[in-house]
Amino acid sequence: MNDIHPVFEKMIGQHEKETFLNQKAKVIWFTGLSGSGKSTIALSLEKRLHEKDFFTQVLDGDNVRTGINNNLGFSEEDRTENIRRIAEISKLFVNCGIITLNSFVSPTNAIRKLAKEIIGKDNFIEIFVDTPIEICEQRDVKGLYKKAREGKIKDFTGITSPFEAPKNPDLTIKTENRTIENCVEEVFNFIVLKIKSKV
Ligand code: ADX
Repeated sequence: MNDIHPVFEKMIGQHEKETFLNQKAKVIWFTGLSGSGKSTIALSLEKRLHEKDFFTQVLDGDNVRTGINNNLGFSEEDRTENIRRIAEISKLFVNCGIITLNSFVSPTNAIRKLAKEIIGKDNFIEIFVDTPIEICEQRDVKGLYKKAREGKIKDFTGITSPFEAPKNPDLTIKTENRTIENCVEEVFNFIVLKIKSKV
């Protein structure tokens, strides 16, 4: 099981690439309900990191579910496959030294455990964007909650499909009554020492 494929031994490794990029690669994994603010925080955090000369990549439903995962829906099986592929892609980014910001509902403990196992626990930072469903539904940015209530979308997270709050996330961000800037600041402060290369 622990055998390393010979090709990995010939490749330039994560450490060399991190040195080249002058940073430490991590996957910052945002989990939470649809409309909780995950992607807004991830995108704003990316700008902040870019300004500070970190090299990053954002992965979210928009660039993954319309591309490599465009054959997947929202059954438990499809969500698991969605997250499995995303975790494998993230692992490649991390091997390349890149700080990867992932914004996925990833609704169950089993799904997040799978992601963590694939990526490796030392490279994985789990952030729970903890916005109550009532607030997400009030915001209803994409109009999906309304449709789900009307029965027009099946297996909708929080309505007709479960969301299990993470038991031990590395960080929990509450977004209610707070600005995006303020939430981003909290995440930035939490991760900055973990992604800085040691001098
Ligand atoms: S996950 O459960 O497999 O992790 P993912 O984060 O990729 O989900 O996609 C969730 C996004 O897809 C939501 O933010 C929402 O815009 C959209 N969506 C469409 N249908 C559903 C559904 N049935 N449940 C949840 N999100 C859905």
